[in-house]
Amino acid sequence: MKRPHVTINCAMSADGKIASPARKQIRISSEQDLQRMYQLRHESDAVLVGIETILADDPKLTVKESYVPHPRQPLRVILDSKGRTPVDALALNTVSKTLILTTTGHKRTYDGSHIEVVECETDDEGFIDVRNALEILSRKGVQRLLVEGGGTVIWKFLTSRVVDDLYIYIGSCIIGGKDTPTVADGEGIHGGEVIPLKIVDVKQGGSGVLIHYQPL
Ligand SMILES: NC(=O)c1ccc[n+]([C@@H]2O[C@H](COP(=O)([O-])OP(=O)(O)OC[C@H]3O[C@@H](n4cnc5c(N)ncnc54)[C@H](OP(=O)(O)O)[C@@H]3O)[C@@H](O)[C@H]2O)c1
Repeated sequence: MKRPHVTINCAMSADGKIASPARKQIRISSEQDLQRMYQLRHESDAVLVGIETILADDPKLTVKESYVPHPRQPLRVILDSKGRTPVDALALNTVSKTLILTTTGHKRTYDGSHIEVVECETDDEGFIDVRNALEILSRKGVQRLLVEGGGTVIWKFLTSRVVDDLYIYIGSCIIGGKDTPTVADGEGIHGGEVIPLKIVDVKQGGSGVLIHYQPL
């Protein structure tokens, strides 16, 4: 299968949480790490999130000029099987193009030629089939894809074995809460077969630590 190079980037607390217990965005990254994240977006052809991240955080998914001068804005990709992306979502603004990947029967129309909605195949859970999504992105010329979350999407990409690099920034804080989103949610492993990773690099970044992993 021809697919883009896939990088996951995520910021978590020391206890592995990526949002507040109310599932809302919370500042975990240091200023230095935010700069790195915007640089990663700038170097990517597309940045992808799941619909729950859009509904919870309403992110713009763009590159801020205050962090990267003369930014290159990546295509924004939303995995949204049931067509729930709100018409006023900030990720649909005109700063960049947006591609909403949905499933048959859930295609909605949005104002603006910068927004495209494409129907995809589904997997056994009724989600967008990750490999089919990657093929579509590849056909659109996406060579470097940045996956930002949330935990359900990251789980699916890791278990689909399509991840090349995984960057986890560990902020020096604890969030807690047994149902708070973590880096990899989904159904978790069955039995004792973990998803093995190797450490490529470890760096201090502001008050936290950045670990660069690659799946084995
Ligand atoms: N700290 C960070 O770096 C960071 C980054 C991003 C997000 N977050 C946090 O993550 C939380 C949201 O995470 P989440 O796990 O609830 O949701 P999510 O991963 O953002 O979205 C999951 C939803 O996307 C849709 N989807 C469609 N195809 C999919 C596929 N192949 N794989 C996975 N999902 C697919 C499904 O909804 P449908 O069935 O309706 O399509 C699914 O329920 C928020 O609290 C947000 O703040 C944190």
